[in-house]
Amino acid sequence: MKKFYLRTMGCQMNDHDSEVIRGLLLSQGYDETEEAEEADLILYNTCCVRENPERKVYGNMMNYKRLKEARPNLIIGICGCMTQQKEELQNILAQLPHVDLVFGTHNIHRLPELLARAEGGERVVEVWDEAPYDEEGQDFRESLPVERGHRLKAFVNIIYGCTNFCTYCIVPYVRGKEHSRLPESIIAEVSGLVEAGYKEVTLLGQNVNAYGKDLSIDTSFSRLLAELNAIEGLQRIRFTTSHPRDMGPDLINALASLEKVCEHLHLPVQAGSSTVLRRMNRGYTRESYLELVRQVRQAVPGIAITTDIIVGFPGETEEDFAETLSLVEEVRFDSAFTFIYSPREGTPAARLPDQVPEEIKKERIYRLIELQNRISSEYIQSMVGTHQEVLVESTDDQGLVGRTRTNRQVHFAGSEQLLGELVTVEITEAGTWTLRGKIVQPQG
Ligand code: 5AD
Ligand code: SF4
Repeated sequence: MKKFYLRTMGCQMNDHDSEVIRGLLLSQGYDETEEAEEADLILYNTCCVRENPERKVYGNMMNYKRLKEARPNLIIGICGCMTQQKEELQNILAQLPHVDLVFGTHNIHRLPELLARAEGGERVVEVWDEAPYDEEGQDFRESLPVERGHRLKAFVNIIYGCTNFCTYCIVPYVRGKEHSRLPESIIAEVSGLVEAGYKEVTLLGQNVNAYGKDLSIDTSFSRLLAELNAIEGLQRIRFTTSHPRDMGPDLINALASLEKVCEHLHLPVQAGSSTVLRRMNRGYTRESYLELVRQVRQAVPGIAITTDIIVGFPGETEEDFAETLSLVEEVRFDSAFTFIYSPREGTPAARLPDQVPEEIKKERIYRLIELQNRISSEYIQSMVGTHQEVLVESTDDQGLVGRTRTNRQVHFAGSEQLLGELVTVEITEAGTWTLRGKIVQPQG
């Protein structure tokens, strides 16, 4: 039997695309392996948000050259966001002559045919600029097999693409316009998952708050949440990512009132200075972000708010950066993904003057990480002694592993029969990132 080795970089959208790719490859008679050395197909699902992971792809691909020389029948493939950039695609083709299969994010469904051609010895390159939609506006992914990474919680796309055009970001150029799935197909997918034993869904989109705006029917993200909340047997609903600009009172209300919607909000702030935010085209100010956080916390006490922050955006001064630090102090995020600004060709910010020198960017990110680590650790320590509702998700060598509604991982002793159940856990110990606890009451 042929084997594939699949690596995924980037965000949860890509993770989910890889679940579809996996489903397709298994349906083609391939088996998965964790060892590139023994694979007949090596495939990288790439990300193009920052330069570093891109470089890593080139580096790894160079290493596979010798595998290809030893085994000419080996197929080496690259897909995902990197291939959607025209210049990057040309680079890949020129610099990596041993790569023989390239496809984009909009034609994953073509994989079986493309793979068959590559197996026949052809160098196959097929990247589409846009996703094909049927007459109802439905995406090609609707009917594809999915090999999910987990059997209790699942990713569900609700909106593809992004039309925000933040000046630093390449995503709108590679993932296309915002395109919402129809509510009925989302509801059908989630109902099917629940029937198959899934307990939790994470709704995915670059900007879930924009859900429904591009549809001709009258719907919205908060309405979709209410409809999903009504599905019997589903226990938890999560979603990511929210854009602060589009976060209206109806969504805050949904977070507060729908019992299955978990108390976790990923709300990227990107920067703490209103001047920088304006140059990023984020559509909100420091003050309006802080006000939004205040409203969310008032409506949903105890909610975990996480964020993304970029340091070293062009023209960011020490004073601007100090405003990022003070915002982080003020909000006290549960956790934060921090990034060094990486100029992306074709985006407006890459052409701005006053690019921040690399050493300054590095120094700033260290300061930011240090601050956020202190806050995250204080936060996690403060959970000791509390009772948390935990969904039992998996087992490890010491017992059970689950997550709180606020998306913190907890380890505790208990029987495997509790897998998929909600239990109440008393937190007894806090490490750097994870918690230990003991079950005080199975809820069933
Ligand atoms: N440089 C650094 N970080 C970026 N992000 C997006 N584009 C860039 C870039 N050019 C970050 C943002 C976004 C996250 C997914 O990646 O913080 O929220
Ligand atoms: Fe990377 Fe963005 Fe593509 Fe996700 S959507 S894989 S973060 S470039």
